[in-house]
Amino acid sequence: MSIAVKIESFMEKSSWIRKMFEEGAKMKAKYGAENVFDLSLGNPNLPPPKEFHEALMTEAAVEAEGIHGYMPNPGYPQVRAEIAKAASVDQEVDLTENEILMTCGAAGALNVVLKTILNPGEKVVVSKPYFVEYNFYLDNHGGELVTVPSTQTFGLDFNEIEKAITKDTRALLINSPNNPSGVIYSREELDRLGEILEAKSKEFGKTVYLISDEPYRKIAYNNAVVPGVLRAYKNSIVATSYSKELSLAGERIGYIAICPAADDKDKLFNGMALCNRILGFVNAPGLMQRVVGKIQGASVNIAAYEKKKQILCDGLREAGYDFVEPQGAFYLFPKSPIADDVEFVKILQEEKVLAVPGSGFGVPGHFRLSFCVADSVIENSIKGFKAAMDKCKG
Ligand SMILES: Cc1ncc(COP(=O)(O)O)c(C=O)c1O
Repeated sequence: MSIAVKIESFMEKSSWIRKMFEEGAKMKAKYGAENVFDLSLGNPNLPPPKEFHEALMTEAAVEAEGIHGYMPNPGYPQVRAEIAKAASVDQEVDLTENEILMTCGAAGALNVVLKTILNPGEKVVVSKPYFVEYNFYLDNHGGELVTVPSTQTFGLDFNEIEKAITKDTRALLINSPNNPSGVIYSREELDRLGEILEAKSKEFGKTVYLISDEPYRKIAYNNAVVPGVLRAYKNSIVATSYSKELSLAGERIGYIAICPAADDKDKLFNGMALCNRILGFVNAPGLMQRVVGKIQGASVNIAAYEKKKQILCDGLREAGYDFVEPQGAFYLFPKSPIADDVEFVKILQEEKVLAVPGSGFGVPGHFRLSFCVADSVIENSIKGFKAAMDKCKG
């Protein structure tokens, strides 16, 4: 045995991702990349905005003593203060640098949050469909994921959520705009969540947190606004990144924002600073911190994503697919024309279209499409979707 049994089983469980990737690579080699329509990956294809390149060049040229050295584990205070100003507007509460910690992306942020708050065996409730990596993050910190169904249109089902929260629950984890459904939770839904969590915290005599994973916040369509989460509940924490809104997924830069009114807020902040350090991140990448601190408000061209969404939605609608039109993020989560979503994804593959089965997000009978690809890939995929639908209709 060369590696831990648990990791071997995780590798086995997540091997379908690798298999899909390998299958896609094989198909591209065989048919030519331009003839394979890969809608399986959430890797943003739009370039970062010009403000990013300008700030990067300026910051890269700075020569100052200690500039590439260690820093406080939560990150540069002046960068956190800049982010606090912008996040105060998004979150509809007054934030300062004392509530912001810089992290290695949203994934780093979530791991820091979970390590800081979870006691062994405590549970985190999440609404389906959900980002499958949550299972691994929970396991990293001795927690357990409890999943609950959503409504028909992927909204929050409050009855299910209330039922799922027990004395062992430490947090509710939401993701809006959602990967894979594209749904944005409304102000009213967040308020209701706040009420439920307040009541449950009282009932069980412990702090039950609301964690909001929101790397897609800026990617919203038809002028939709993503309401502030920190405004809705005092024990709430935002985990987010610049991976999607600035197309910087490879640079690993994000942050945590804590509600200023959270119970024992300073202890929570200091605990997170320690966890950022002992998880081995130590601090988020320094150069990237300085760059994003300078370009608050900049984003990739959201209109370009909106156009891609429209091409895909129009094409799939015409081909007879049933789906909830996304309000944000860059995914579509249609119903599979046959009950077996894994089988349907294979049928799509025969048409050289690559998608991900909904089972991977806890909702079989659906499939996920990423539209963060060239417009031509989406346009050229539509005939494959039509052919796959025809095959299913027999
Ligand atoms: C819902 C969700 N949360 C978190 C992440 C991780 O983001 P990051 O690359 O910033 O760590 C992703 C990435 O795709 C995501 O879709």
